[in-house]
Amino acid sequence: MFMRFDIFTLFPAIFESPLQESILKRAIESGLIDVRLHNIRDYATDKHHITDDYPYGGGGGMVMKPEPIFAAVETVLGMANARFAWRMQNAENGVRSAIQKRQSEIPIILLTPQGRVFDQGLARELAQHDRIALICGRYEGVDERVREHLVTDEISIGDYVLTGGELAALIVIDAVARLRPGALGDPGATADDSHAEGLLEYPHYTRPPEFRGWRVPDVLLSGHHAEIDRWRRQQSLRRTARRRPDLLSRIFLTPEERQWIERLADESGAT
Ligand code: ADE
Repeated sequence: MFMRFDIFTLFPAIFESPLQESILKRAIESGLIDVRLHNIRDYATDKHHITDDYPYGGGGGMVMKPEPIFAAVETVLGMANARFAWRMQNAENGVRSAIQKRQSEIPIILLTPQGRVFDQGLARELAQHDRIALICGRYEGVDERVREHLVTDEISIGDYVLTGGELAALIVIDAVARLRPGALGDPGATADDSHAEGLLEYPHYTRPPEFRGWRVPDVLLSGHHAEIDRWRRQQSLRRTARRRPDLLSRIFLTPEERQWIERLADESGAT
């Protein structure tokens, strides 16, 4: 089953080259994913196709107008889904995560630094859908009525501010597309990824076995699969403990692994 991404943007050309290389290119060519670009400007009905305006109340910057965004999304997704999104937004206690609540509906996601921070768990949630819509904000932001009455979810790719949501949308497409069955060729290819199990990935080596005097760890050349697995697990734990200790509190570790990590705390230096 292919997955469709509908992208709403003022700058569709930004998407061109990243979608024309490597794995995303192949996924598109083989029909695993379909990325449709919709220029919000095409849905502005005034003579000059204006998509932004001054903020009420003053202050710097421009704000994206609601009409072209609503028109674009409603035209492309159809009114049924747009109305559903409105209901979700107005549900009691401000239900925000339609992504989880209704897998069958199309999430309408606004890329914004104010959104839920994107991570591997959210990529996996999105990869469950056969269709998602991504709205790329620009300028100082979008009219609040887009957030309130059109979008079902807001996603940020991190705590920094980009010039617009386009690069963020590409990151979401990339992370989600590679999780779709068949995208990477090997069905198990994503199992060992950093973050797949909540840990950073172990180090990788390839030939030659010695390069400028730096040797590949003997265990990897030994052919002992159980020992290799053990070494990789320990390397993952060590890296995570040193670089991202915040991740360790969120995952299941055996008591032995916890003890091992505590002993590591005495060692110094990052790997
Ligand atoms: N638009 C601007 N900054 C962003 C961010 N950090 N994530 C998603 N969209 C954005």
